[in-house]
Amino acid sequence: MNPLARLSLLLGTGLALSACARPPETSLAATPVPLTPSTQATAAVADTLPRVLVHKSPTCGCCGLWVEHLRQAGFPVEVRDQENIHPIKERLGIPFGKGSCHTAQVDGYVIEGHVPVQDIKRLLAERPQARGLVLPGMPAGSPGMEMPDGRVEPYTVELIATDGSTRPFARHGSAGSP
Ligand code: CU
Ligand code: CU
Repeated sequence: MNPLARLSLLLGTGLALSACARPPETSLAATPVPLTPSTQATAAVADTLPRVLVHKSPTCGCCGLWVEHLRQAGFPVEVRDQENIHPIKERLGIPFGKGSCHTAQVDGYVIEGHVPVQDIKRLLAERPQARGLVLPGMPAGSPGMEMPDGRVEPYTVELIATDGSTRPFARHGSAGSP
């Protein structure tokens, strides 16, 4: 199979890309973010929370909103805009068909998609032997994907094991417990 075909399979339906195409709503996506230490606003908590490196497309509005979600929770964030983040997903081991619009790295873990900060904090506290967390697609109501009417589509954040398999890590929305 040629590399392009593999990449489109990796992303599943391609929904993640098209759904993220709405225009940027903040200056975050438009302004190149320097690869320098965090701003002074986040400096106070920078010793307690590790830096998050976010790979995203420069035109992704919902990615910028998720970055805001991280910053509001006190995470220092470094954003790397690039046109094609698919090779990064492959390199970091995002499982087949589980992709979303952005890919982040924090403290040795990968975070794929609109994962809530409380799940990231729990991951960093529990430190399981794993690749990281993935929230496939872009569920309505997840951080950065808030709906005007406040609706939250039930969604499940999954833990990516070192072998690439996944299992539920946290459930959100009105789905109830497993
Ligand atoms: Cu998104
Ligand atoms: Cu995104």
